[in-house]
Amino acid sequence: MNLASILAFIITAHFAVSPSSAAFAPPDNYLINCGSVETTTVDNRDFKGDSSSPGSAFLSAAGSSSIAVQNPNSYPGLSDLYRTARVFTSVSRYEFGVTKNGTHMVRLHFFAFNSQKHDLGLAQFNVSVNGYPILSGFSVDRTKNGKIKEFFVNVQDVKVVVVFTPLGRLGIAFVNAIEVISAPDELIADGAQLVRTSGPENYVGLRSKILETLHRINVGGAKITPFNDTLWRDWIPDEEFLVVKNAAKRVSRSTPPNYEQGGATRETAPDQVYITAQVMNMADVISSALFNISWVFPLSPDNSRYFVRMHFCDFVSTMPHQLYFNVYINNYSAIADLDLSAVTFNSLATPYYKDFVVDSNSLNSIRVSVGPSSLSIPGKVNAILNGLEIMRIMNNDGLGSQGGSKKKRTWILVGAILGGFFFICFVVLAFLLMGKCMKKEKPKQKPAESSAWSPLTVRGSSYTKVSEGTTTASLAHNLGLKISFAEIQYATNSFDKKLIIGSGGFGMVFKGVLQDGTEVAVKRGVPGSRQGLPEFQTEITVLSKIRHRHLVSLIGYCEEQSEMILVYEFMEKGALKSHLYGTGMPPLSWKQRLEICIGSARGLHYLHTGSAQGIIHRDVKSTNILLDENYVAKVADFGLSRAGPCLDETHVSTGVKGSFGYLDPEYFKRQQLTDKSDVYSFGVVLFEVLCARPAIDPLLSREQVNLAEWAMLWQKRGMLEQIVDPFLTGKIKTDSLRKFGDTATKCLADYGVDRPTMGDVLWNLEYALQLQETGMSREPHEDSSTNATEIPVPVLIPRIPSTTVRIDEDNTDQSSSDMSTSKVFSQLITSEGR
Ligand SMILES: *[C@@H]1O[C@H](CO)[C@@H](O)[C@H](O)[C@H]1NC(C)=O
Ligand SMILES: *[C@@H]1O[C@H](CO)[C@@H](O)[C@H](O)[C@H]1NC(C)=O
Ligand SMILES: *[C@@H]1O[C@H](CO)[C@@H](O)[C@H](O)[C@H]1NC(C)=O
Ligand SMILES: *[C@@H]1O[C@H](CO)[C@@H](O)[C@H](O)[C@H]1NC(C)=O
Ligand SMILES: *[C@@H]1O[C@H](CO)[C@@H](O)[C@H](O)[C@H]1NC(C)=O
Repeated sequence: MNLASILAFIITAHFAVSPSSAAFAPPDNYLINCGSVETTTVDNRDFKGDSSSPGSAFLSAAGSSSIAVQNPNSYPGLSDLYRTARVFTSVSRYEFGVTKNGTHMVRLHFFAFNSQKHDLGLAQFNVSVNGYPILSGFSVDRTKNGKIKEFFVNVQDVKVVVVFTPLGRLGIAFVNAIEVISAPDELIADGAQLVRTSGPENYVGLRSKILETLHRINVGGAKITPFNDTLWRDWIPDEEFLVVKNAAKRVSRSTPPNYEQGGATRETAPDQVYITAQVMNMADVISSALFNISWVFPLSPDNSRYFVRMHFCDFVSTMPHQLYFNVYINNYSAIADLDLSAVTFNSLATPYYKDFVVDSNSLNSIRVSVGPSSLSIPGKVNAILNGLEIMRIMNNDGLGSQGGSKKKRTWILVGAILGGFFFICFVVLAFLLMGKCMKKEKPKQKPAESSAWSPLTVRGSSYTKVSEGTTTASLAHNLGLKISFAEIQYATNSFDKKLIIGSGGFGMVFKGVLQDGTEVAVKRGVPGSRQGLPEFQTEITVLSKIRHRHLVSLIGYCEEQSEMILVYEFMEKGALKSHLYGTGMPPLSWKQRLEICIGSARGLHYLHTGSAQGIIHRDVKSTNILLDENYVAKVADFGLSRAGPCLDETHVSTGVKGSFGYLDPEYFKRQQLTDKSDVYSFGVVLFEVLCARPAIDPLLSREQVNLAEWAMLWQKRGMLEQIVDPFLTGKIKTDSLRKFGDTATKCLADYGVDRPTMGDVLWNLEYALQLQETGMSREPHEDSSTNATEIPVPVLIPRIPSTTVRIDEDNTDQSSSDMSTSKVFSQLITSEGR
């Protein structure tokens, strides 16, 4: 059975039950129609007048007055909110009690009309929120039919205080309406990907900044008014910002998107944003010329940084993994080779968003482009964008946020957690599972196998540091991963000790079977201990974002009854290594090996480029590549992984970690961690796969001990075939072997700069597969478009009897190896080679 589809099913089924469509109910929701006596209903929302009770209770103004538009008919279409205004002649304030701390949306409505008493077009004033200036020397253009200024403010106080300070000759300030509304906790995350020349970096501290909305765009769609937005926002069409209008083509779908698997919710953006988009307009392209779609958004000159949120939803593909494209901001690469189905758990039409931070530039604009990638499939080249938000990050250091360097450090810790800690649990889990499986297979497990556990303690020390400063996001209920405690109890037979397959500092790992029969690994934190809660939440938030077909996945989590439980997918066939040598399992065919290498390369490529922080695995080796029942490779064991490429500080603090025989010599010498260190280790794995021998084999003669050196030696002699796994002799096509050998050799270059990126490695391996396969009929899922008309060559692959399963009743020292455990493991062990 196809694991991905099972997982998708579980999640879908789970969601069908949960009330995911309930509208967001903000804990704080203050709507004031300033200068009005009555409550005014606009878009089904009641704005209380501040000229009488109860609205007047929020206002403390010594010299304010209310004025009204004298002849509303002269302003066709004027909102009822703009018929009145409150005018201040001295410093005045509105105060709103806070029932829940966190991000609040503050919207101020201005319409500069002219009354007998005042010409509001001449007013000039400052506005602050809780002491921080949000508008300075502000005035409103008289001709504009109303203007909304929107801010996101993280309120950690008993009230929100909005102060108006009149300035200038006239000495008046005014406002027509005020909204102070709680935003969903997860709406603004603390971190984002910093996009600039030096490559991706991480920005952290967004939550403590005030954000001012500048552009909110429904790409490819129509204007959306507050009436139709889940958080009462305005969205406008993108056409006026398109650089080359003909480059883009509007597409839409009529049914709502599938929320819940991509991390976005209806509050992130409403349906109408995700079901309309611009794609590349192929009809207007002469020949197969490749191009980008670009938009340019004007900014007012200023040295701020900007927050850019891009909304995506691939409802144009008919199958997953058809659409690969690049995303650029200000001509810098923001996301390379984005495969939306990969980040949305192989689903389509699933909303996904990604946050970036960019610096201002001399052009006073932000340029956003999407275009074809090197992984784009010929004939299916395309790129898509559904929505875009641009906000100014206000430099509100007065509001309790820390200075830059401190923040950087925090981020590194956060990164360490995101990239490391977080994964540890899951790694541990995967590892335990695997370890257990191996114990069954080969009772003498090498001690080296358990080295992956060691970083736990190292990471453990960094948790505490981070937790002090971070606001824990309330769990993204949106992720769709919540599993009830009852279901987990059922799955694990109420945490039956016999099902324990591992343990660690964080608690126990159980083998479980969900109600529909899906096998899972269940990691349970020590019940009742809320320690580590922020990490638990971060883990879920982040893991959900890096979901990929070729990375071992999180299936769900449970947070009920002071429990912290994580549920992971189960990898039936165990580690790649066990299929290469030392276990007596039937050898894998060359094609299988190539596919496994391609899958792992895809996983690593995604790890390096697909997530906000860009994660370096740091422990790539054949025991950390797991195979599912269909021999689909998934990278596991992120115990050593961390965010990267990082700021200078991290390089210094990075102790050399990794496994002997796979370690990047440059990293070893200079302690500078980059994603090229993973490329090196992967090169070793490639030779391991080709030669079917360990990276280090101390029993061999001196020149042979180190596989990397040994293989490079034969590659230089041009006689690589001499050391190929004897099983493969004569079965690898010369061109395929040459391509593979060249690729592995390039990965092992002494210096990181000389090594290819994981994306290049992936491309080359696919090519090696193509060279092997030329003339053979292609499997339908294969991406490339070779013709299948040539004579099929018989495939010399001994089929692996995947149904043969034997319960291995060897006498390990596991007290748990009784009936039920054996039953459990019978699912795990394929021992057809014995
Ligand atoms: C208005 O805001 C500016 C910039 O924040 C500040 O320099 C100025 O002092 C403020 N004026 C008053 C009267 O508060
Ligand atoms: C919000 O945070 C402030 C400052 O930490 C605290 O005084 C207040 O009680 C908090 N409010 C709520 C509702 O938790
Ligand atoms: C809300 O959306 C519906 C469907 O797109 C549209 O017909 C309606 O005019 C919109 N209403 C407002 C107030 O924008
Ligand atoms: C990006 O490149 C385009 C086309 O080369 C150029 O017109 C534009 O000025 C560049 N934008 C930025 C922000 O560098
Ligand atoms: C798309 O834009 C980026 C950034 O400006 C540029 O590097 C790339 O070459 C463009 N791609 C195409 C196909 O024009």
